[in-house]
Amino acid sequence: MSQKNLIIAFGGASPEHEVSVLTAMQVIAALDESDYTLTPLYITKSGNWLTGQKLLDLSNYKDLNELEASSTRCAFVKDEMGRTLLKEQEKQGLFTKPAAIPVYAVVTAFHGSDGENGSFQGTCEMFNIPYTGSGVLASSVGMNKVKAKQLCVANKIPVTDSLDFFEKNWEDDQATILKEAEMIGYPLIVKPCNLGSSIGVAKANSKDELIDAIETAFRYDAHLLVEEAIQPLMEINCSVLGSSTDCRASVCERPMGASEMLSFQDKYQSGGNAEKGMASADRIIPADISSELTEEIRELAVQTFKTFDASGVARLDFLVNADTKKVYFNEINTIPGSFSFYLWEKSELTFKALIEELVAVAIQNHQAKNGRVRSYQTNLLNEKAAKGIKGLKGLKK
Ligand SMILES: Nc1ncnc2c1ncn2[C@@H]1O[C@H](COP(=O)(O)OP(=O)(O)O)[C@@H](O)[C@H]1O
Ligand SMILES: [Mg+2]
Repeated sequence: MSQKNLIIAFGGASPEHEVSVLTAMQVIAALDESDYTLTPLYITKSGNWLTGQKLLDLSNYKDLNELEASSTRCAFVKDEMGRTLLKEQEKQGLFTKPAAIPVYAVVTAFHGSDGENGSFQGTCEMFNIPYTGSGVLASSVGMNKVKAKQLCVANKIPVTDSLDFFEKNWEDDQATILKEAEMIGYPLIVKPCNLGSSIGVAKANSKDELIDAIETAFRYDAHLLVEEAIQPLMEINCSVLGSSTDCRASVCERPMGASEMLSFQDKYQSGGNAEKGMASADRIIPADISSELTEEIRELAVQTFKTFDASGVARLDFLVNADTKKVYFNEINTIPGSFSFYLWEKSELTFKALIEELVAVAIQNHQAKNGRVRSYQTNLLNEKAAKGIKGLKGLKK
């Protein structure tokens, strides 16, 4: 393929929609003078797929309705040679044909929901195109806090004591849930299982607060996690880059919140410097911790990345008891804000080089997948048709 069309995919129906737009704009700026032709694929909050030059410029996002009206709807299609194209669904001018470009690779710059939970990744798999970041499995398990913890427990990665339950269980038997939660001991943390950005996360110091926190969290998710609160708490994050068999850890960061729990506001709205996205949140890089603790966390980050079978760039977030220095895995972000470029810059890798590496890993994963036998030439249906098959009675011929 002579022209390397890189599709930058972002937006989507997610509470982190705007943060995703910022990450995408950072990616576009970093690739300004690269060998790629950049094409935006912006998914609106209501799920429309759009493309067009206006989507490459952050200043056009002030009025999302106007932006949508002046962009072009698009979709992935297969051409007669089996190649996947990103095709415009409307004509730009009276005499022009809708444009269709072959896809070299997709840079997934979504945060949260369908763009990060494996759904969009599954679409790329169906169209057999290379895409950056983790595959369907790591993306979906990583998004589910309960399943992520279970995977860690099975692989001896330390996590906090916890309990999980569905809304139905709560309706049926509050008393048992409260009793089991209190056996873990206050203070407790309540979180929705499938959300991010600290939405619905709360600390409870008593039964009343616990009931309150649970009722609130059920407004966001039907599956909750109640876990032991680590205190005094120190949060340390570390990014991992590569494939699940060949990856390395960045320097560590210590994010700082205004309150004892990092909120959505701490993460994205502090400092009034929206263009910088995640990089603007208050943080200490490298984290001001001992070299022993740094190495322990970096090793644990790599081990966890491999355990999830993650790929591309991820950010592994850990909770550390500031007194005992005991480390617990908290979550994996399979598409971290700003691709954690600020950690890699401190690890001597430019943002541009980081994205180029992500694309290289995506191509490598795609080639590995396509190098295996995926279908068989024999047509079983042919044989079955000859012999006849049970259970088809009444089916129209
Ligand atoms: N077990 C815990 N003990 C103490 N604080 C916690 C615990 N779990 C989460 N927190 C606090 O809540 C914040 C949000 O929780 P987290 O699990 O990271 O959810 P999210 O996916 O919404 O970011 C964390 O950054 C941390 O400040
Ligand atoms: Mg978090």
